[in-house]
Parts: sequence; structure tokens; C-alpha cells
Amino acid sequence: MRCTPRIQARTPFASCLSSCSRWSLALSLTLAAASSTAACGGSDSTSPDSAGTQTAPTEPATGEPTANGTPAGEKPGSNGDGGQPPADGPITPSTTPPLQLETDKAIVDALAVAKLDLGALPASLAELNPRQRSAVMKSFTLALGTTCEGCHSKSGDQIDFKVETPNIKVTKKMWSEYVGKLKKKDGGPIYCDSCHQKKMKFLDTADNRSLGVWMKENFVSKLARKDGNSHACSTCHGSPFNGPILDAWEK
Ligand code: HEC
Ligand code: HEC
Ligand code: HEC
Repeated sequence: MRCTPRIQARTPFASCLSSCSRWSLALSLTLAAASSTAACGGSDSTSPDSAGTQTAPTEPATGEPTANGTPAGEKPGSNGDGGQPPADGPITPSTTPPLQLETDKAIVDALAVAKLDLGALPASLAELNPRQRSAVMKSFTLALGTTCEGCHSKSGDQIDFKVETPNIKVTKKMWSEYVGKLKKKDGGPIYCDSCHQKKMKFLDTADNRSLGVWMKENFVSKLARKDGNSHACSTCHGSPFNGPILDAWEK
């Protein structure tokens, strides 16, 4: 039964998906082809730009992500037309903020209250004792810039913590698959805020090609897998490339 209400609507993303599926597919194929070469230990696996150069000149996204006037965190794809760009026009750099490599001290402190260390977190949220869980819940609100209700749903005036909302399901996977299995390129741990930076949603989905370049420069080049296997788009998107991976995580 899929009667659980979504806590945070993902409408801009969904509308983009339906209106942009054509160019999104083309991008996915180009980039996935480039990345699977790297993922399979191809000879160009040392070239982090291989995906970007196949589609457009790659501008480092680390400069000024908000330089084109769209405040980071606004929903650039929500202006009614799904933000659909021309299929083969120039690529505008993504306004998605670059990965944040240092975890906020407030988050480290919140976890330390329950003696949780960023470098040695349990593999699954289910392993947390009540004291640890409460510290982790606080860390989630800090990392995602939300309240308990960002994930837990209300039943009348009260929050019903037992209800498994889509965001709770996504969170369990974010914990085990991303925080649990990925690390910074230099080996240090990542946490929710590395990617989220006080926002539930932070991807600029206006142009999937720009987003693909951003993903290459941030999620691929700045991260590595803890299991030591080579890291590429396929780590998260699988092979063949599947774009909207969170749809399955919400269920
Ligand atoms: C980012 C999403 C998220 C936020 C925000 C969040 N939680 Fe949670 N919460 C979860 C997840 C996921 C679980 C399930 C953990 C598990 O598998 O044991 C959970 C479980 C719980 C539980 C245990 C529920 C049960 O089944 O017994 C309590 C209590 C709880 N949260 C309280 C809070 C409080 C209080 C806040 C605000 C300070 C909060 N949560 C904020 C995701 C969240
Ligand atoms: C490697 C990067 C990364 C890490 C680390 C990460 N996330 Fe995410 N998360 C994402 C991306 C990308 C999205 C999609 C955001 C968007 O659509 O703008 C997302 C989406 C979500 C969503 C769904 C939001 C919505 O409204 O649909 C939740 C909830 C979430 N993450 C929770 C967490 C929590 C809690 C943690 C830490 C345990 C975490 N994430 C760690 C990348 C990450
Ligand atoms: C650390 C995990 C991770 C890596 C590595 C990663 N991505 Fe993503 N990507 C995500 C998440 C999470 C989303 C949000 C999916 C959703 O909302 O369902 C996303 C979304 C996207 C989207 C928009 C999805 C769509 O179909 O509209 C594109 C395009 C994309 N990624 C391209 C890439 C490319 C190209 C690479 C490799 C250069 C890559 N990603 C590497 C996690 C990752």
C-alpha cells in the first residue's frame, strides 16, 4: 500500500523528469558510456573529465555556483516549463553547491553526545540504541536544515514516529549506502551535510547535462568507495544508467 503521504513534495523534479526525459536519456547514455569505461578499469580511468568533455567544455563548478543569479537552494526547475534546455545548446554550469568537505562542528558535537564518531558509525540505523538514535535525529535536522517533521509525519497534533514515510525510507538508504560506503577521496568520512548542506533538496535539476557535469566533479571526483573498488556514476546510478534512483528508495 502506498498510502503514506510524502512529507516533502518533489514536484519540480518530477515535472522535469516527465518533460525532459528525451534529453535526459541522451545525456545519460553519453555520460554512462563514458563512466562505465572508467568503472570497468578502462585505460582512461585517470581522466575525471571524460564525461564532461563528451558533452561540452567543462567549467570547474567550484567557482561561483550562484554566479548566474539563481540562488543556490531555490528550485531552478520550477518555473513552469520544467526548465527544459535545448538538447544541444551550450551547458550552463549547475547552481548546485559544491560538495562540502568539512562536517559542521555542531553536527560532530551532536553525535559526540552519544559517543558517536563520524569515522566509525554503525552500518545501519537499526543498530542505534535510543540515546544514539536521538543524537542522530538531531544531527539529521542540522544537516538537512529541517525539523523532525521533515521526515516524520503528524497524526493530528502529535508526530507519529512509527509511520514509515518515504523520507524515512530514503534516509535509511542514505545512511547505509552513502554515509556508510563512501568516503572523501583523501579517506576522511562524509556525513549527510557533505552533500545536503542544510537542505533536503539541493540539486539544480534544470538541466540534466549540467547536473551530470556537476556529479562528475563532485560525487565522482571528490569521493571514493570504502571497499576500494573504482568509483564512477555506476556506483550510485547502476549500469545501465538509471537517473531517478530515489524513486525506488522511497518505496
Ligand atoms: C532525515 C530524516 C529524519 C529526521 C529529520 C528525523 N528523523 Fe527520526 N527517524 C528517521 C529514520 C530513518 C528512523 C528509523 C531509524 C531506524 O531504522 O531505527 C527514525 C526513527 C525515529 C524514532 C524511532 C521510531 C520508532 O520506530 O520507534 C524516533 C523516536 C525519532 N526518529 C525521533 C525523531 C525526532 C525527535 C526528530 C527531530 C529531532 C527526528 N526523529 C528527525 C529519520 C528522521
Ligand atoms: C553523497 C551525497 C549524499 C549524502 C552523503 C547524503 N545524501 Fe541524501 N540525498 C542526496 C541527493 C543527491 C538527494 C536528492 C536531492 C534533490 O533531489 O535535490 C538526496 C535526497 C535525500 C532525501 C529526500 C529528500 C526529498 O525531499 O526528496 C532525504 C530524506 C535524504 N537525502 C536524507 C539524507 C540523510 C539523512 C543523509 C545522511 C544519513 C543523507 N541524505 C546523506 C545525496 C546525499
Ligand atoms: C554518490 C552517488 C552518485 C554518484 C556517484 C552520481 N550520482 Fe547522479 N544522482 C545521485 C542522486 C542521489 C540523484 C538524485 C536522484 C533522484 O532524485 O531520484 C542523482 C541525479 C542525477 C541526475 C538527474 C536524474 C534524472 O534522471 O533526472 C543526473 C543526470 C545524474 N545524477 C548524473 C550523474 C552522472 C553523469 C554521474 C557520473 C558522472 C553521477 N550522476 C554520479 C547520486 C549520484
